[in-house]
Amino acid sequence: MPSFLAPPLQPLRIRFDSPAATAEPAGPLLVRRMSSLEGLFEAEGLRRELADAGDPIVYTVASSPVPELPRELPQSLTTIAPGTLGGEFYMTKGHQHPDPQGEIYLCLRGTGGLLTFDGATTSWIEMTPGVIGYMPPGWAHRSINTGDEEYQFLAVYPGSAGHDYQWVVENGMGERIFQGPTGVVRRPFRVDTGVPA
Ligand code: PA5
Ligand code: MN
Repeated sequence: MPSFLAPPLQPLRIRFDSPAATAEPAGPLLVRRMSSLEGLFEAEGLRRELADAGDPIVYTVASSPVPELPRELPQSLTTIAPGTLGGEFYMTKGHQHPDPQGEIYLCLRGTGGLLTFDGATTSWIEMTPGVIGYMPPGWAHRSINTGDEEYQFLAVYPGSAGHDYQWVVENGMGERIFQGPTGVVRRPFRVDTGVPA
C-alpha cells in the first residue's frame, strides 16, 4: 500500500491527471464513508440510517507521497460524491489547523464551495474549475459538493499544519449548506448542546 516518503526527499514530479485521479507516485488514500461522519450532518438520524444501509462513500482523499512534516508542502486530491442528506449537501468533515497556517484549494472538476469559519465570522467561496480558494491561518474549513457530479479539488498545505476535527465538532462552521428550490441555501449552524430547542 502506498505511503508517505521518508525525508530527505528528492525533487519529484507528482501527477494528478491519471485516469483514476490519484497522485502518481501515490501516497495514502483515505476513504470517508457515511459511517465515519457521525454528528456532522444536521440530520444525524438519517445519517445513521444510511450508514446502516449501504454506507456510501461520501468522499476520498488521495495524498501525494510528500510527508506531513514541518517545511514540507504536501498535496492531496479530494473527491466528494454528489448527494444530499436531509437536504444538506455532501461535505467533508472540516477541520482547523492546530498549527495555524494557510492553505490553498484549486478546483479541478465539478461545482462546490469552500466554507470557512474563524469562530465568529463565516465565509463562503464558490468553487468552479480553475478557481483557487485561500484559507488564511486560523480559519476552519469544510468543502461541499453543490453540484450533481463529483466535485474535485487539489489542496496544498504546510506539512506542520495538522488536522483538528474536534474543533469543528465543538464550534460548528457558522453555517450549513442546503439544496434549495433554486440553488444553494446557506443556513445558520446550530451547535447541538444536547438540550432540546
Ligand atoms: O488538508 C486539507 O485541508 C484537505 O486535504 C482536507 O483534509 C480534505 O479535503 C478532507 O477534508 P477533511 O480533512 O476535513 O476531512
Ligand atoms: Mn486543511
